[in-house]
Amino acid sequence: MMTSLPEGSVVVVAGGAGFIGSHLCERLLTDGYQVVAVDDLSTGDSGNLSHLSATDGFTFVEGDIVLPSAIEQLTDVVDPHDVSAVLNFASPASPPAYLQRPLDTLAVGSTGTWNLINYAVSCSARFLMASTSEVYGDPLEHPQVETYWGNVNPIGERSVYDEAKRFSEALVAAHQRSAGLDARIVRIFNTYGPRMQPDDGRVVTNMVHQSLAGKPLTIYGDGSQTRSFCYVTDEVDGIVRLLQSDVVRPVNIGNPNEFTIRELADVIAEVLGADLSIEYLPLPSDDPKVRQPDISRARDLLGWEPKVQLRDGIRQMVESLQ
Ligand SMILES: NC(=O)c1ccc[n+]([C@@H]2O[C@H](COP(=O)([O-])OP(=O)(O)OC[C@H]3O[C@@H](n4cnc5c(N)ncnc54)[C@H](O)[C@@H]3O)[C@@H](O)[C@H]2O)c1
Repeated sequence: MMTSLPEGSVVVVAGGAGFIGSHLCERLLTDGYQVVAVDDLSTGDSGNLSHLSATDGFTFVEGDIVLPSAIEQLTDVVDPHDVSAVLNFASPASPPAYLQRPLDTLAVGSTGTWNLINYAVSCSARFLMASTSEVYGDPLEHPQVETYWGNVNPIGERSVYDEAKRFSEALVAAHQRSAGLDARIVRIFNTYGPRMQPDDGRVVTNMVHQSLAGKPLTIYGDGSQTRSFCYVTDEVDGIVRLLQSDVVRPVNIGNPNEFTIRELADVIAEVLGADLSIEYLPLPSDDPKVRQPDISRARDLLGWEPKVQLRDGIRQMVESLQ
């Protein structure tokens, strides 16, 4: 099986106008690939790609991957023979975004993923699925290793996202088994950095923007729940290493340094030199109490581990906003 993608070939990034997708497009262009980003701009922003619009080898297609028309548009702009990989980062990703669009989230994780897999097959291209730590649900094993099957409430309100991603993984695995699809699955853990939407409702963005506005930081619950936060350039580096590898089983890519939400608030206040004031609100339903990746597989098979410390990453994110 081929591992590294052919130099200068075309990589299609669905969800390319989003937070992680835009950083990924940038990295792939730097690595010498041509990039076609396809995005319906539902939660992303074309401004995330404006700095790339004049770059040789970059094309943007506005389209919804749930609809056949998006695939037709891709076929119009790029010769399928030139496409070496199709990366699926299209999905509402933050809890407020997917709770506002429950059916769209299920559609993009099912029909959208299926359309893109068929497109990758028609191009004889590699497929990479952006999955999530949310497939582990509210985990009963800690830290989470890839062989853990998860603890997801199938009818809870978060299930529209968790189960959509689990279904996407099942689709990929079925195509690997029955159709020989050359595929990779990355389970992304909380990622942060420049270009996150200010209103995406994720804890790092909420707290950074609240702190910049001189407002109290919101903590849901008592702040003892834990998360691990991966800076976006580290995350993208892990994803590219997986893409270029022959590892066909899911791989966790995230930062294993675990912080309580209360500790995160302390770090943000310290970086901004702000007085720490906190407003406590009730915990949302099915909110995971702990979240920490076991990254042994990424370390052993990809030679990857994150480099950016939380304080440095928060500092870079704040600088990008000033
Ligand atoms: N950011 C994280 O911490 C994190 C963690 C785990 C998994 N992920 C996954 O990584 C991917 C990117 O997340 P993000 O944080 O960059 O979110 P994002 O919302 O910034 O990016 C997602 C992009 O997908 C686009 N999109 C949504 N539905 C689409 C559709 N039907 N057709 C075409 N485009 C569509 C959106 O417009 C947006 O640009 C998502 O699949 C998400 O589930 C992210």
